[in-house]
Amino acid sequence: KKVSLIGVPMDLGQGRRGVDMGPSAIRYAHVIERLEKLDYDVIDLGDLGIPNPQDRARNGENLKCLDEVAQVNTELAERVHTIVEEGRFPLVLGGDHSIAIGTLAGVAKHKKNLGVIWYDAHADINTGETSPSGNIHGMSLAVGLGYGHERLTQILGYSPKIKPEHVVIIGARDLDEGEKQLIKKLGIKVFTMHEIDRLGMTYVMEEAIKHVSNGTDGVHLSLDLDGLDPHDAPGVGTPVRGGISYRESHLAMEILAEADILTSAEFVEVNPILDHGNTTANVAVALLGSLFGEKLL
Ligand code: ARG
Ligand code: MN
Ligand code: MN
Ligand code: MN
Repeated sequence: KKVSLIGVPMDLGQGRRGVDMGPSAIRYAHVIERLEKLDYDVIDLGDLGIPNPQDRARNGENLKCLDEVAQVNTELAERVHTIVEEGRFPLVLGGDHSIAIGTLAGVAKHKKNLGVIWYDAHADINTGETSPSGNIHGMSLAVGLGYGHERLTQILGYSPKIKPEHVVIIGARDLDEGEKQLIKKLGIKVFTMHEIDRLGMTYVMEEAIKHVSNGTDGVHLSLDLDGLDPHDAPGVGTPVRGGISYRESHLAMEILAEADILTSAEFVEVNPILDHGNTTANVAVALLGSLFGEKLL
């Protein structure tokens, strides 16, 4: 596989500074070397530019930094679209999870029935109407599904990007009221921590893979590091106790590698300021190793 890596040092989709350093921290943890060792042809396209907003507050509506988030995601969507056209695998490094808006827009331009694995403590399926925070990183899955502000849903001029029956959420344990309602209304498949504990990660991943392979023409992995337990991935802005372990996450990535279904991926929400050492970026790179087929023997 040929991989094109792009960093998006976005921190405007949420309230805590530092997540803009995520791409650097992940590069510092030797992501390129790790993938090259597995014989991938890797091109690092560098980082997108992020505007410095005059005003981080809400702009009338309940979507903080809407202009800037829309602008960056439009650029990201175009870049990702180009990567897919070149026949390369887009690997996007965040930055906050609002960047999934651009990644999905770029990938789905070609994959009309894109499967999505949303590995996260959250569902990020709020809209301006339901969000308790106004943070756009909590809205990106909703935007992909066609719900939310049209400045976001209309990026690249089409909506929705993905269909609810092609989405699976893994690791959920913190959902807002409006999110629960939309998940139920759309019938989205969710493996909460309860199901992971009860059924085990092997079964969960096998079912998830079946689900996102059914009727799809590609599969995107959107991995929020806060899906993992904060003990294993402490450098995230919105940690939630009781998460997926380091070992379960490696297993999940290995099962995905074996299934060989992924066509794009993004790793988001690494915040080195809140981290111990560079633990969380190191975890991200270790997981990428497994995802791209690393084996012990
Ligand atoms: N549900 C909360 C909100 O809408 C938290 C979202 C956290 N999202 C994330 N990508 N870490 O504000
Ligand atoms: Mn095209
Ligand atoms: Mn999250
Ligand atoms: Mn998220």
